[in-house]
Amino acid sequence: MSDENKTLTDVGEAAGVFPETLSEETAADYSAVTQEMQETVSQQIPQMQESDAQPYSEADEETAEDAVPTPHFVTVARQAREQREAERAARRAEAEAKAALEEEEKLFGSVDDDEEEEAPAPPSAEEGPVIVFDHVTKEYTDGPEDADNAALKDVSFSINRGEFVFIVGPSGSGKSTLIRLLMREISPTAGAIYIAGSNLSTLRNRQVCKYRRSIGIVFQDFRLLEDRTVFENVAFAQKVIGAPSRKITKNVSKMLSMVRLRNKYRSYPNKLSGGEQQRVAVARALVNNPLILLADEPTGNLDPANTADIMELLEDINARGTTVVVVTHNREIVDSMQRRVISLREGVIVDDKKGGYDRE
Ligand SMILES: Nc1ncnc2c1ncn2[C@@H]1O[C@H](COP(=O)(O)OP(=O)(O)O)[C@@H](O)[C@H]1O
Ligand SMILES: [Mg+2]
Repeated sequence: MSDENKTLTDVGEAAGVFPETLSEETAADYSAVTQEMQETVSQQIPQMQESDAQPYSEADEETAEDAVPTPHFVTVARQAREQREAERAARRAEAEAKAALEEEEKLFGSVDDDEEEEAPAPPSAEEGPVIVFDHVTKEYTDGPEDADNAALKDVSFSINRGEFVFIVGPSGSGKSTLIRLLMREISPTAGAIYIAGSNLSTLRNRQVCKYRRSIGIVFQDFRLLEDRTVFENVAFAQKVIGAPSRKITKNVSKMLSMVRLRNKYRSYPNKLSGGEQQRVAVARALVNNPLILLADEPTGNLDPANTADIMELLEDINARGTTVVVVTHNREIVDSMQRRVISLREGVIVDDKKGGYDRE
């Protein structure tokens, strides 16, 4: 894994993708890229629900037909060599994917294996809300006494494509539960959650993995791989989905430009400030063109200057079309940004409107 990553970094360098002196890409170039990202996203999501199509597939390379017939023994030898190469590549890819999956589970939790496999809901139309909570209740333990203490109680709301929404509320009000439900890390006790029209509860395990890769997640504690460079941390998300190396180098490079960390691509997380580490986490969350970006207290460990910086980054991302859901305690930020605010208290929505953080 890390050898492969080193090679990637070296390739980036050799290709001149990451010279320290390289100027930032132009804004025009960037917006063309993000537009392409958004188009890819809208195509990917229905695919994800419909089939097992991979986001990336290498185009079959066709060799030109020779005008002169090739001797039989040459063809046989070539076929044998190609087969050996293909087998080696498949073994390498399998080992890498397995290692990446293990890392992914460490970071984001594993998918429970004891669920019934049911047919997924049919893919939705392009229009309509991207997130729907339909009378969602979440109790962490069974039993009658828990119904009153449920972490979320009969919560309903919907979020449209491209919205920027803050989730606020005192500690213990159910904010993280809401995010974990959206990540499909846990499932509702009652009610249903629809993402782009698909009921999350009916996704099969394999589809859950795919679904998780279609959302970007940022945590308070960054969750970077400490023994990997900045480049490798972001590249990791692309490896999990099996993106080819050339695309990884290109995409990671773009993301690092966006979060203004291109010149730190070889640094390890412990050499970065908290704000820089969170920017790496944001780049990692975005590199696979997610439909939704979820952030649970992303600025909880940051000082005011870095908080403002991360929030600006999230606004930029949203301005380019990604739906953003941010849990925060930061009253100042919420008041200054004047976005939609869903306020929770004891598992119930007590307010849902555009504007500031006007409740305790
Ligand atoms: N894994 C868990 N098991 C049992 N109770 C939990 C678990 N996680 C959260 N809770 C409870 O659910 C409620 C909501 O928690 P949480 O969603 O973490 O709130 P917030 O993020 O707003 O602080 C709290 O009462 C908390 O104690
Ligand atoms: Mg929380």
